[in-house]
Amino acid sequence: MSKKIQLIIGSTRQHRLSPSIANWIETQVAKNDDFELEVLDLKDINLPFFNEPTSPSMGAGTSDAAQSWAAKISSADAVIILSPEYNAGYPAPLKNAIDYLKQEWRNRPVTIVTYGFGGGLSSAAQLKQVFTRLGSAIVESGVAIDIGAGILNETGGISNPETSLLQYAAPLATALDEITAHVKVEALVVA
Ligand SMILES: Cc1cc2nc3c(=O)[nH]c(=O)nc-3n(C[C@H](O)[C@H](O)[C@H](O)COP(=O)(O)O)c2cc1C
Repeated sequence: MSKKIQLIIGSTRQHRLSPSIANWIETQVAKNDDFELEVLDLKDINLPFFNEPTSPSMGAGTSDAAQSWAAKISSADAVIILSPEYNAGYPAPLKNAIDYLKQEWRNRPVTIVTYGFGGGLSSAAQLKQVFTRLGSAIVESGVAIDIGAGILNETGGISNPETSLLQYAAPLATALDEITAHVKVEALVVA
């Protein structure tokens, strides 16, 4: 049976780069029959700024937004976080989406894909720290896309992701293999 992976698009601004990288990730994942991918675009999900009356450590909040976000994240086997680097960190809407939940992140395999000038390594480091605190099963191989390495076209977009992101296909495939291993271990633990 295929594993359900969610791809969370972590940037929400207008004219963002993330959808083109997300499309490329979708194409790569589609090459592997083991996976079924669901894209969760935080721009569309549009979670309100976190304002629940209780801490998520007591369970997901009571608002419709909190309940449906918790149900959505609980419905998958693993998560890929796609995040740019903003000021040596990751975007606020992504932090907001993370902070809504606690138990739902626990033991969940999480792969981190960042992009930025130099690959968004500071953003990746922060995300690792946060998901470690949440007890997620962070997949060791992440992907760090250097958008300063001739990838962007003259309008700041990615013209041909299949070609310009080619060097990242192997690291992504490795990360997906690791997700499979994590999910198998999880299944054994549950059984
Ligand atoms: C508010 C802001 C801060 C940024 N800070 C960094 C940074 O610290 N390091 C970096 O490599 N790129 C930085 N960038 C460049 C982004 O990585 C680049 O614009 C990327 O396309 C942003 O992702 P998005 O288009 O999906 O929003 C920053 C961009 C923005 C908008």
